Amino acid sequence: MYIHAVPVHLVDHPVAQDALALLRDRTTIPSHFRRLAHRVSLILAMEAARELPASTVTIQTPLETTTGRRLEADVVVVPVLRAGLGMMEAVLEVLPHARVGHIGLQRDEQTAVASQYYKKLPPDLSRSTALIVDPMLATGGSAVAAITMLQRAGAIDIRLVCIVAAPEGIAEVERAHPGVHIFTPAIDRELNAHKFILPGLGDFGDRLYGTM
Ligand code: PRP
Ligand code: URA
Repeated sequence: MYIHAVPVHLVDHPVAQDALALLRDRTTIPSHFRRLAHRVSLILAMEAARELPASTVTIQTPLETTTGRRLEADVVVVPVLRAGLGMMEAVLEVLPHARVGHIGLQRDEQTAVASQYYKKLPPDLSRSTALIVDPMLATGGSAVAAITMLQRAGAIDIRLVCIVAAPEGIAEVERAHPGVHIFTPAIDRELNAHKFILPGLGDFGDRLYGTM
């Protein structure tokens, strides 16, 4: 569904929505939180992969010759450390031949401004589909920084996969990088004074790894 100037794909699959409801629940413990993050990410990855190029191939079944469709896209999955790691394995389950890049970004606790501490991207990105995975799109600062890094490395087809998006973050991506597709199961109400998403689910990285 396109509801913004940037294409926002609202993933309303009931299994994704069920997992999201449990992710939001403050009583969900990290081991369960990790499984839920994996489950919702499987569905998001399927949606993000929906329009990937495929080609027709000939296949010999045990009985006869037929044709099938094989994905032919070069996909690069880019988790934004650290919380994006909670989504990465699910995306690789859906797209096992994907190459993987890593971007480390950390929001300052006072200002909520993200700064980069790590970057390792595969080469030759111009013909690849880059899937940035970062569960929270809050102010949009981290997403814009990650997209900018990928563009500077040559990527053209860049998609952002997240688990909760704030309107402010969507607007920021739209302002800085119109044309980037966003896949999310939820667009929440707003940010609070500390730039956390409401109703949100809290600090995703902390809940994923039990560091709260
Ligand atoms: C969280 C989240 C995003 C970012 C979103 O990461 O995983 O990367 O905040 O916020 P923004 O849209 O306002 O930039 P955080 O910086 O807390 O780091 P972590 O993943 O290491 O916990
Ligand atoms: N990062 C998070 O983990 N949660 C938020 O609500 C905002 C940024």
